[in-house]
Amino acid sequence: MDIAQELLEAIHAVYGLHPEHRSLHAKGSCLTGTFTATPTAGRLTRAAHMAGEPVPVTVRFSNGTGTPHVHDGAMDGRGLAIKFHLPDGTTTDFVGLTLPVFFVRTPEDLLEFTRARTDPEAVGPFLAAHPETVPAVTMQLSALPRASYAQTTFFGIHAFKFVAADGTETWIRYRWQPDAGEETLAQDEADGRSADYLQDEVRTRVERAPITFTLFLQLADDGDPTDDPTAQWPDEREQVEAGRLELTAVAEDCERLVFDPMRLTDGIEPSDDKILRARPAAYSVSIEKRFKS
Ligand code: HEM
Repeated sequence: MDIAQELLEAIHAVYGLHPEHRSLHAKGSCLTGTFTATPTAGRLTRAAHMAGEPVPVTVRFSNGTGTPHVHDGAMDGRGLAIKFHLPDGTTTDFVGLTLPVFFVRTPEDLLEFTRARTDPEAVGPFLAAHPETVPAVTMQLSALPRASYAQTTFFGIHAFKFVAADGTETWIRYRWQPDAGEETLAQDEADGRSADYLQDEVRTRVERAPITFTLFLQLADDGDPTDDPTAQWPDEREQVEAGRLELTAVAEDCERLVFDPMRLTDGIEPSDDKILRARPAAYSVSIEKRFKS
């Protein structure tokens, strides 16, 4: 069996098999709007969505688990997936999480870590053997429930290479920061809300006013690792404002959409990060499963 199949079997062992739903990030809500890049972004990459004209987007906010009816206050990462509809009719995707770093560096380690999660005896030894996993686990365990998807920061985690019109190359990492500010809830307050409070809130909010995020890019220095999703770059690295996401309406039935961080467009290239490279095959297993129905 290939690693993608094995990973999905391990994920289904944790969350159960829910044929019509995504194997992870099973519960979520979709909105539509536009993205408008800054001139700075346009100087760093020739990518069509960074040229400065507003580009239509479809966005899906999600809870990380593979359990479709999870309570929205449950401890877990949250996701933001963005599909940019480019002028030439193609699309390019961005897929991020509330964590600035990922749990592991390779799909093999992810398999071992996911399997360890069904065996309480195995988690401790895994963490002892993989100190690089500790930061993401600690952040995940200490994260408070979100008050709103619209008041949450999302990180692209992987490094991507921005290629400018003149061929200049810059390694970057993405972050989407909510213009409405960060807001969390105490666990008991979230538990007291309805199971779908995040979905209901984001729909009500967008009907009242646009939901906006600012895109920031962190620029690598020589020697910063571009293939390690468990390692952050130093805080003092230059950060630039790259654009504004403005969400204005609810999109019904986004359950059949597919977001893939390797669906890139000219002007943006992937790193050799093994987790990034493993994602399309793993997502395909989930996609085949949910599209069979
Ligand atoms: C090898 C590591 C990973 C595996 C095996 C994995 C697996 C999956 C799977 C199976 C899905 C459901 C796909 C679908 O049915 O469309 C999914 C969705 C998702 N993943 Fe991952 N993932 C990995 C790494 C990551 C990382 C590093 C991030 C963040 C940077 C991330 C963020 C997301 C998000 C936000 C979604 C939901 C997308 C949507 O709304 O459609 N994943 N993942």
